[in-house]
Amino acid sequence: MIVYLNGQYIPRQRASIDVDDRGFLFADGIYEVVHSYEGHLFQMDAHLQRMEHGLCSLYIAIDDVQGIREVAERLIVENSLTSGEATVYVQITRGSAPRTHGFPPAGTPPTVYAAAKQYIPQRDRAKEGIAAILVPDTRWARCDIKSVALLPNVLARQRAIEAGVADAVFVRDGVVLEGTSSNFFGVFNGEVVTAPKTNYILPGITRDVVIGLCSEIGVPVHETPILEHQLGEAEELFLASTIVEIRPIVRLNDHPVGTGTPGPVTRRIQRAFRDLVSDLKSSTSV
Ligand code: PDD
Repeated sequence: MIVYLNGQYIPRQRASIDVDDRGFLFADGIYEVVHSYEGHLFQMDAHLQRMEHGLCSLYIAIDDVQGIREVAERLIVENSLTSGEATVYVQITRGSAPRTHGFPPAGTPPTVYAAAKQYIPQRDRAKEGIAAILVPDTRWARCDIKSVALLPNVLARQRAIEAGVADAVFVRDGVVLEGTSSNFFGVFNGEVVTAPKTNYILPGITRDVVIGLCSEIGVPVHETPILEHQLGEAEELFLASTIVEIRPIVRLNDHPVGTGTPGPVTRRIQRAFRDLVSDLKSSTSV
């Protein structure tokens, strides 16, 4: 496996990070995950734009964020991932410097790491749906930054695993926000509802794609808060992310959602999503 680290393409075994890296010491950095279909990067522009937002919010200066596109494309080719699906992981930290909370001296180069690996989709989960639980949201108040500080997400996912379900959904002050690594959607009276873009959710790229697809197929969408006590009225629930695409939730906190099977609105959106991916796969540029 060839990875990218600070300007070099090297075997994964040779890639090493300094123990003073601020990503290691403070989780002082951001990341992105991009989905590749047959060598085509899905929504790369949007991922780069979100990365720019994150870096800017954290005052990490990177000369050439757009250059990450080339890095991702080269990793796909170097690792023979141009057929099938793959994910590209990119992480940028504030770099390496002796530990002190304040920023390191000006000119400290950020650490830039990227790796691509094969992804085998779990189509059964997309088709049959998953069970999930609600958990209190213990995260910070800047969930709009795709920070590598993911401890609350890790603990919530582990709680789901130990409860025998696939995922957990964060609830803050009675408002249902998002999954541990995905955005959350409900269908009420045939219309899609999802949390508005605030500092309490990650502005998901797939979330935007879903909203666009809904308008194309004529499903109304409301970006308004979903309250926990309204969940019993939901006809359908689903999660959306770069990795899982669109995944129905058919059981929540041990209660069936709607009929207990993926609903018609979710399935329409899934079909529209597959069509979009097929168009991407048949496009010429890699
Ligand atoms: N997670 N919300 C959270 C908290 C996330 O971590 C993610 C993505 C999303 C969906 O965003 P997008 O559609 O841009 O992937 C929402 C990535 C995939 C991860 O952590 O692996």
